[in-house]
Amino acid sequence: MSSDGAARRSLTSALKERLIQQSLRLRELNREGELNREGEPSRGGEPSRERDGTREGGPAREDEPARQGQHTGGAELQQWCRFDQHPGYRQLQILREGAARLGIDNPYFRLHDGAAAAAILRGERNLINYSSYNYLGLAGHPEVNAAAKAAIDHYGTSVSASRLVSGERPIHRELERALADLHGVQDCVVFVSGHATNVSTLATLVGPKDLVVHDALIHNSVLLGIQLSGAHRMPFAHNDLQGLDRLLTQWRAQFERVLVAVEGLYGMDGDFPDLPGLIAIKRRHHAWLLVDEAHSLGVLGKTGAGIQEHFGLDGTQVDIWMGTLSKALASCGGYVAGEAALVEHLKCSAPGFVYSVGMPAPAAAAALEALRIMRAEPGRVQRLHERARRFLELARQRGIDTGFSAGRSVIPAITRSSLKAARLSAALDHRGINVQPILYPAVPEQAARLRFFVCCEHSEDQIRDTVDALAEEWRRL
Ligand SMILES: Cc1ncc(COP(=O)(O)O)c(C=O)c1O
Repeated sequence: MSSDGAARRSLTSALKERLIQQSLRLRELNREGELNREGEPSRGGEPSRERDGTREGGPAREDEPARQGQHTGGAELQQWCRFDQHPGYRQLQILREGAARLGIDNPYFRLHDGAAAAAILRGERNLINYSSYNYLGLAGHPEVNAAAKAAIDHYGTSVSASRLVSGERPIHRELERALADLHGVQDCVVFVSGHATNVSTLATLVGPKDLVVHDALIHNSVLLGIQLSGAHRMPFAHNDLQGLDRLLTQWRAQFERVLVAVEGLYGMDGDFPDLPGLIAIKRRHHAWLLVDEAHSLGVLGKTGAGIQEHFGLDGTQVDIWMGTLSKALASCGGYVAGEAALVEHLKCSAPGFVYSVGMPAPAAAAALEALRIMRAEPGRVQRLHERARRFLELARQRGIDTGFSAGRSVIPAITRSSLKAARLSAALDHRGINVQPILYPAVPEQAARLRFFVCCEHSEDQIRDTVDALAEEWRRL
């Protein structure tokens, strides 16, 4: 037993409770600090400078210790070498202990076997699965698997270099061409990770003289990209286009480049923005518009071509189409599609592209084949819409709080309490339904929820039985 473990065990439960509350409050404060209020632009880069030991005017020099003379001996310095004393880790332990005391099983890192289908195997148990964003049922599809296997036979499992040097393969270009054509734009670049795509793209395109204005519910990868870029950052309330317009009216003139970042379909809430309205605003204020299509591709539009198809818009009206290959396209990686100059710039400068290995050929081949099937079989998208709409209707009839969901794929059941969300997820698990609770601090405590990813392969019976079980367990909360 570590000395820390022994010390924690000797705490009274009242003290433990206080520590948990303090730790939650601390996280809340950190979060509030991260998301500054409308009307107060903050420098996205500043917090990271403090943390990584660099400062205004340039990085700290290697020959200049940051806090000279502050430490006296090795024993004192040893504390900074202990992973188990790291404040982030200690907080995690306190939260885990709190959950264990309340009798809540850890809902994370559960071991599932087989493909992420409408049903999934956990040990001996077969569960209806709502925890995977395999919207079109293409992860595990035989033709997608076959394409990946053929690519392994031809190219091997790794391209073994950055594409800039010697990792470029024809399959990369085929995939990029197909994605550019899907959006109706000049070119596209694929990255090995969707998260890294946003981080690297923002860090490359904007800097300290620029401003990024983003929907308050934007994905973490966009926030980290802004932080890395050093650009100023301002959130606007979720889908509040008037608020966005007000911010730009007030602040636009003080910056060089201004980028507006939104999601094509919000992955936590299942709603989508008024894209024509956003385009009008960004034009009026001479700003770029980035639309993250991670959860919209394969989901919105009649054939799954995303939010631009839903609104019947020309792809060139959006400056930066960002998307991921990990969701409807059954693979891994991300992309940016748009003007040739944008793509060429990213290919030569974005750190997550230049200094990272090229996408493995089987991943590129899987995404390309999934895209082909999506285009050839629009019935998958229609079935997804039917199932999701039915889920939403039934859930609303039963009094479940489904938030803003538009009923296309993502449907939250908002409990407004992490404890209730964890209990509800465990109760459904016992009834053979796998659905992930989304708990604080992933969302604010008031927004804690279950999140159902509906996919086109869920049957009508599965949807009805699930909502019945959900409504019964919801009433018992
Ligand atoms: C909106 C959004 N953008 C980017 C990402 C990152 O994509 P990936 O998981 O493919 O790295 C995600 C992941 O869930 C996401 O939801």
